[in-house]
Amino acid sequence: MNILFLGDIVGKPGRDVVTERLTALRTQLKLDLVIVNGENAAGGFGITRTIAEELFASGVDVITTGNHWADQKEILNYIEAEDRILRPVNYPKGTPGKGANLYQTPAGSVLVINAMGRVFMDALDDPFAGVDRELAACPLGEAADAIVVDIHAEATSEKMAMGHFCDSRASLVVGTHQHMPTADAQIFPGGTAFQCDAGACADYDSVIGMEKSEPLQRFTRKISSQRFTPATGPATLCGVFVQTGAGGFATRIEPVRLGGRLRQAMPQV
Ligand SMILES: [Fe+2]
Ligand SMILES: [Fe+2]
Repeated sequence: MNILFLGDIVGKPGRDVVTERLTALRTQLKLDLVIVNGENAAGGFGITRTIAEELFASGVDVITTGNHWADQKEILNYIEAEDRILRPVNYPKGTPGKGANLYQTPAGSVLVINAMGRVFMDALDDPFAGVDRELAACPLGEAADAIVVDIHAEATSEKMAMGHFCDSRASLVVGTHQHMPTADAQIFPGGTAFQCDAGACADYDSVIGMEKSEPLQRFTRKISSQRFTPATGPATLCGVFVQTGAGGFATRIEPVRLGGRLRQAMPQV
């Protein structure tokens, strides 16, 4: 199975690069499933129904999120009825929406799990226990033909630990939230592909996708003068391409970077 996972879509430039490029990418990479992290799609903060529908129409199959998942309040109702959007699995009991779901594709079934780290982030339930429960309920190679875990976290240590925790039980563990593609794509000994951060679909002449003047002001003067807004230059589409083989294990992981300022990377399929 061929799966594309794209990191946090930041604002309109991020949405534009995804909607403009995805149709061609689906053909070029022979994709069976496309997952994007959409937590910053609406002006940098959360996601709306209109934006989610625009992403689905452009070829996105599943949207994961993170700490910004509920910034736009309309999502609280929408997520209850829309199985294709996930929020982190380790939010308290009773939180609207779900943190994992099994999706059917013509090539097989894919379990997608969204979890959020706790290091340098808000306190939440244990993400390892939450992911463990979902993996146990739907084992790789038995109940799911592939399994993808989006670990939305600040610390590379916590993400890498999650990768090893899931090794041999997931096809891919990929990080989001840092908004910066890392150079550590690899397949762990048990057959789980891993990259610490997928990178953002964002303008990289910015501070993690946001217009750079306000973050600079806050870092240098410790005074905030306005809200963060997404940088408006051309975005780089960033993510990972994963191929799975027997048992649902990864046979290949490669970074994808397309458009904008970053060095381009495109797997040959
Ligand atoms: Fe983000
Ligand atoms: Fe985040």
